Amino acid sequence: YVIGVDLGTSAVKIILVNQSGEVVNEISKEYALIHEKTGYSEQRPDDWLTNTINGISDLLNDFGGNKNDIEGISFSGQMHGLVLLDENEEPLRNAILWNDTRTTAECEEIYEAVGEEKLLQLTKNPALEGFTLPKILWVKKNEPEIFTKVKTFVLPKDYVRLKLTGQLHMDYSDAAGTLLFNVSTKKWSNEILNIFGLSNDFCPPLVGSHEQVGTISSDVAEKTGLSPHTRVFAGGADNACGAIGAGILEEGSTLASIGTSGVVLSYEDSDDKDFKGTVHYFNHGAPDAYYTMGVTLSAGHSLSWFKEVFAKEEDFNELLAEVDTIPPGANGLLFTPYLVGERTPHVDSTIRASFIGIDSAHERKDFVRAVLEGITFSLNESVEIFRNQGKRIDTVVSIGGGAKNEVWLQMQADIFNAKIVKHASEQGPGMGAAMLAAYGCGWFSSMKECADTFLKVDKEFLPIEENVKQYEELFQLYKKVYTETKELNM
Ligand code: XUL
Repeated sequence: YVIGVDLGTSAVKIILVNQSGEVVNEISKEYALIHEKTGYSEQRPDDWLTNTINGISDLLNDFGGNKNDIEGISFSGQMHGLVLLDENEEPLRNAILWNDTRTTAECEEIYEAVGEEKLLQLTKNPALEGFTLPKILWVKKNEPEIFTKVKTFVLPKDYVRLKLTGQLHMDYSDAAGTLLFNVSTKKWSNEILNIFGLSNDFCPPLVGSHEQVGTISSDVAEKTGLSPHTRVFAGGADNACGAIGAGILEEGSTLASIGTSGVVLSYEDSDDKDFKGTVHYFNHGAPDAYYTMGVTLSAGHSLSWFKEVFAKEEDFNELLAEVDTIPPGANGLLFTPYLVGERTPHVDSTIRASFIGIDSAHERKDFVRAVLEGITFSLNESVEIFRNQGKRIDTVVSIGGGAKNEVWLQMQADIFNAKIVKHASEQGPGMGAAMLAAYGCGWFSSMKECADTFLKVDKEFLPIEENVKQYEELFQLYKKVYTETKELNM
């Protein structure tokens, strides 16, 4: 057996997987988000740790087999979150998360100090509020008394792994989202560290996602029930692990993940494509590979928002029950999902969402269909960027909330004009983490071989020509809404 830990933004989900890739047990433990001010989003690193330890302990309590047969454990983590550690490797403050937007000024500072082109050349990515370096600069400027005590920084899952093993590391796929890391050379960028007066010791040692970094400490073994011989593998960023868990492991394979945020992600076997920063370019969790990715900030969040405001008493199934009775185009209603701004393609934190074309004949179900279509149009803007760069996108694996509803899956096929694949027993990034441990333990000769054994197709959705045509026209209108309304925000 292996364990995959998915350290997310709302909860840690832990799965126990056997050698055929079957999930034999799973558990989830939630923790709080702390929003002290508008735009602030923090969590307590020790909440992650306690819930992970308790989660593993509960998982093993229900496990009938021999605990010594659990050979390895690995991790998927929410990206970019800043955890500052003192000389005893204890956190100096709450972690500042990926969805915290207090750092607009620091992003400008980075562009001024490094230069936009140079930053792209060194890190392959633009300066965004969500990334780690702007958060480091914010603490340096606003909390100097804390910053003088900083020895090193880590990302969320690295903190948990450090406390489970006593070993300090960061893996390439997560380091890629810090803006301090050279994605091509797989080394910390001394050039960027120097510009911001940060020393090399500030950055943890780097490893590959499948590499073993240690074993479970005896103290944690006692608390969780794991054997102290359990091998611990580095793990990766949640999007890299989501890609592994969906089998996005060769050129030409693409993923659409609809969670709180939405992602369209494409495998890259080299680092030499030039997307000019329009999409993120990160190291994959699979060795020597990369992925490019566009992000919709409010994907599932748009639907949760709609439910919260207009259908609080109902569950999602009830809310979505009638969308199949509404034709493509939602009877002339169009939604743009910019509830918290937008990342790809606009990188605009000030734009806000809209419904266009409201008619007195519209019912709630038209609005629900329009919300699903708007989210999918937004993801299609990322698909379009990839296609404009010459990528073939014929098949897209869909995961997350967007893969739970068949009307939405068909809608993705029609809007992306691609075959949509849904896997059986879809587990997202946690499965990717388990697969890294399985590969690390030597069960397979490649990640691809592991995916071929672990992942099974449940259902496929083919584009319907008539809908594709209609959506192509609507997509042109959708794109116009941003350009025509961006000046109108209050
Ligand atoms: C990626 C990003 C999010 C987080 C969510 O750049 O900010 O997808 O990884 O955990």
